[in-house]
Amino acid sequence: MLGKTALITGASSDIGHAIAKALAASGYHLAVHCHHNVPAIQAIHIEAAKVGVQAECFRYDLTEASGAEALVQSVFETFGRLDVLVNTIGPFYFKDIGEVTPAEWAEAIQLNLHVAFNVTYFAKPHLCSSQGHIINFAFSGVEHLKAWPMSTAYGAAKAGIVVLTKALAVSLAPLGVRVNAICPGLIEAGESSAPEREEMARQIPLGRPGKPDEIADVLTWLVTESPSYLTGALIPVAGAWEY
Ligand SMILES: NC(=O)c1ccc[n+]([C@@H]2O[C@H](COP(=O)([O-])OP(=O)(O)OC[C@H]3O[C@@H](n4cnc5c(N)ncnc54)[C@H](OP(=O)(O)O)[C@@H]3O)[C@@H](O)[C@H]2O)c1
Repeated sequence: MLGKTALITGASSDIGHAIAKALAASGYHLAVHCHHNVPAIQAIHIEAAKVGVQAECFRYDLTEASGAEALVQSVFETFGRLDVLVNTIGPFYFKDIGEVTPAEWAEAIQLNLHVAFNVTYFAKPHLCSSQGHIINFAFSGVEHLKAWPMSTAYGAAKAGIVVLTKALAVSLAPLGVRVNAICPGLIEAGESSAPEREEMARQIPLGRPGKPDEIADVLTWLVTESPSYLTGALIPVAGAWEY
């Protein structure tokens, strides 16, 4: 029998990379997706080889649904099964809603919401066969959004992710597929010291931003050890802070 396989979109991001490493350590073969950042993905190959799992890189622009279809098809042709789908992609946009153009609005919604739907749509039959898991990404506090003029499209898209997560959990529960969303707080970002991040960091009750590995640990627990009754949940990993 083929080994359990996880598809991680946006595995070239800090959080995606940490998830790939953690799932490899738990024995999952890795289908790691990136768009431009191929070097980040190559590092995952080395980590996978160390723990004896297979890792393959899939480079696709997921702006169009056809990219999502091609990605899932390539993954299935390579691994022959799919057990976990991690919809990581969700770039943050920081610009006043009064200045945001229609093209910027469309891009934010596309990458944060439509991509997760599209990849899930094509992955669903395989996840039903394996009775697998879907993990989406929102942010802490998403369930009671405040007005956020500097990141309105991001907030709107992540609110959509909440609705999508809960609806998919209901729809797929009878088929044995669990769907949850992780809601990170502010997570360490290698190079970023943007002023807005520093202001957020000062507000975190736990006194520091989270680490990508802490997100990955929760995700790994979700798919390996968590009770099978846990589905349709929004799980904050945020040091008691909310956006
Ligand atoms: N970091 C935080 O503090 C934080 C806080 C709350 C929630 N979150 C959520 O956690 C998740 C991960 O966040 P992150 O900060 O690690 O990374 P991220 O901002 O989601 O990283 C962007 C990812 O999207 C990919 N991408 C961009 N354009 C694409 C396109 N057209 N087609 C396909 N892929 C594309 C990038 O690929 P390439 O790099 O290969 O081009 C990269 O892997 C996101 O959903 C985010 O909203 C993060």
